Amino acid sequence: MTHLLHLDASARTNSLSRKLGAEFVRAWRDAEPGGTYTYRDLAAEPTPFIEEGWTELCDAVLAAGVTDLDRLAELAVTPAAKTAWQMVEPLLAQVLAADVILIGTPMYNYSIPAALKAWLDQITFPRMSLGQRRFIVVTARGGAYSPGAPKAAFDYQERFLRDFFAGHFAVTDTVFVNAELANAVQDPNLSHLRDVHEASLAAAQAEVRSLAEEYAR
Ligand SMILES: Cc1cc2nc3c(=O)[nH]c(=O)nc-3n(C[C@H](O)[C@H](O)[C@H](O)COP(=O)(O)O)c2cc1C
Repeated sequence: MTHLLHLDASARTNSLSRKLGAEFVRAWRDAEPGGTYTYRDLAAEPTPFIEEGWTELCDAVLAAGVTDLDRLAELAVTPAAKTAWQMVEPLLAQVLAADVILIGTPMYNYSIPAALKAWLDQITFPRMSLGQRRFIVVTARGGAYSPGAPKAAFDYQERFLRDFFAGHFAVTDTVFVNAELANAVQDPNLSHLRDVHEASLAAAQAEVRSLAEEYAR
């Protein structure tokens, strides 16, 4: 039985990345009715930025050479580190309980929203492996960044998450599904690209449905 952790990060309620994530969840529930599910909306309910106590905990982890995440609690010895651990512990527990982690995220300024980065900063510790888990990231972006697009090199959203998950979490098979050219809906200068956007969104929706069936066990 799979446990799915689902995060959303868009500041918009009527958001394409939310739509893609919800589509994945619907198809996943159909394919695996017994699966369990946890959801957090990082935009509506943001995690705070890390503070000094968190850095004290991280420094203690480095100094002790600890790689076992079950031992983090004992390294929170200062009052500030204990306070930081109270924030980290339930977030980390959600991650560790998950077999599949679904992240819905917009592209903001070529990268990820601060809300998603704040969550990543909270849950990431040195030499931490999440290698047994599968990550799927569903994104929406205003422009086009697929291979061959003039701005392909500016995609620090997918590249950052892919490299970070591989380099830090030892997760090398993160799947990305991107709906592109969302700005064509609002921007009159891009109105000639509305069909391309609609096609990109439809392809992304079909892909998340098929991934959900594959990810259900
Ligand atoms: C603060 C902000 C920054 C954005 N920066 C970019 C950008 O750098 N590149 C881009 O292609 N689109 C950018 N966009 C457009 C969004 O990626 C687009 O609206 C997308 O649909 C957002 O995802 P959502 O629909 O899930 O909210 C930006 C939008 C906002 C609100």
